[in-house]
Amino acid sequence: MKILIIGGGNMGLTFARSFLATHIVIAENMFILEKSIEKAEELKKQQIGSIHGEPDNYVSEADLIILAVKPQDSRELFARIKPFVDPQQVVLSIMAGVKSEDIAESLGTKKVVRAMPNLPAQIGFGMTVYTSSNEVTRIELVTVQNLLNATGKAIYVEDEGMIDAATAISGSGPAYVFYFMQKLIESAVSMGFAKSEAEMLSYQTFRGAVELFNKYDFTCQEWIDKVSSKGGTTEAALNKMQAHTTGYHFKEGVKAALDRARN
Ligand SMILES: NC(=O)c1ccc[n+]([C@@H]2O[C@H](COP(=O)([O-])OP(=O)(O)OC[C@H]3O[C@@H](n4cnc5c(N)ncnc54)[C@H](OP(=O)(O)O)[C@@H]3O)[C@@H](O)[C@H]2O)c1
Repeated sequence: MKILIIGGGNMGLTFARSFLATHIVIAENMFILEKSIEKAEELKKQQIGSIHGEPDNYVSEADLIILAVKPQDSRELFARIKPFVDPQQVVLSIMAGVKSEDIAESLGTKKVVRAMPNLPAQIGFGMTVYTSSNEVTRIELVTVQNLLNATGKAIYVEDEGMIDAATAISGSGPAYVFYFMQKLIESAVSMGFAKSEAEMLSYQTFRGAVELFNKYDFTCQEWIDKVSSKGGTTEAALNKMQAHTTGYHFKEGVKAALDRARN
C-alpha cells in the first residue's frame, strides 16, 4: 500500500513514524510532500520515505492521501494537488474544522475520511475519532482503521458533527490535563516542595489515578468517594472547588472549544 502524507509537521510525521514502526507501511511506499524547503531537507536525512517539495505523478499513485497541513493552508494545498488527484483515491484529512464536503468538492473525489487524532499519538497513546463519506468502501475503511490504530485507539462515528465534539474533548484534551497538572505542581511548590519533587508528585498522581481507572470497573465518582472521608482533607478541597463552581467553569471551557471547532 502506497501512502502520501501532505505536511511533514507534528502530526504528519507522527503518522509516518507510527506506520513505519508498526510495519504497516514500508519506507519505499511512503511519500511525504512538505512545502518548507528547510523541513524537507531535514526529513530527507531521516529515511522515512521519499520527500517531495512539489506535487507530481506520485500523488496519483498513492492508495491513500493524508492531509496534515494547518486548516488555513488547505485552500492553497487543494489548488496545488487537485490536478493529480484521481476521483477513486481515498483522502484522509486530519485538519480541524475543514468539512468532508469541502474537501470532496475542492479535490474532485468523493472518498473522504475525516479524523481527529491527538498529540499522544506520537507515542502510540493517541485517541482518534473518525468518520467517512458513503463512497468509502468497507475494505478501505478497515485499512484506515488499521492505520489509525497504529497511533493508539480509534473510534468511528456516523455523524460528522461528532468530529468537532472530539476536537473539543480528545483533540484539545491533553492541554486540559497539562493545565491541571500545572496547577497541582504550582500548589506543591507553594507548599515547599522543590520543582522536581512537585513534578513527580503531580505526574505520579495523575498516572496512578488513570491506571486505577483503567484497571477496575468503578466510575470517577466511586473513586472520588474512595479517596474522600467525611470531614477529611479531600472533602475540604472538593467542597471549596464546588463552592467556586470549578466543574461548571471547566465544562464551559470545553464548550468554548466546541464552539471554536464549529466556527
Ligand atoms: N497538533 C495536534 O495536536 C493536532 C491534533 C489533531 C489534529 N491536528 C491537525 O493536524 C494538522 C497539522 O497540524 P500540525 O500540528 O502537524 O501542523 P504543523 O506542525 O504546522 O505541520 C504542517 C506542515 O505542513 C506544511 N505545509 C503547509 N502547506 C503545505 C502544502 N501546501 N504542501 C505541503 N506541505 C505544506 C507546513 O509547512 P510550513 O511550516 O512551511 O507552513 C508544515 O510543515 C492541522 O490541520 C491540525 O488541525 C493537530
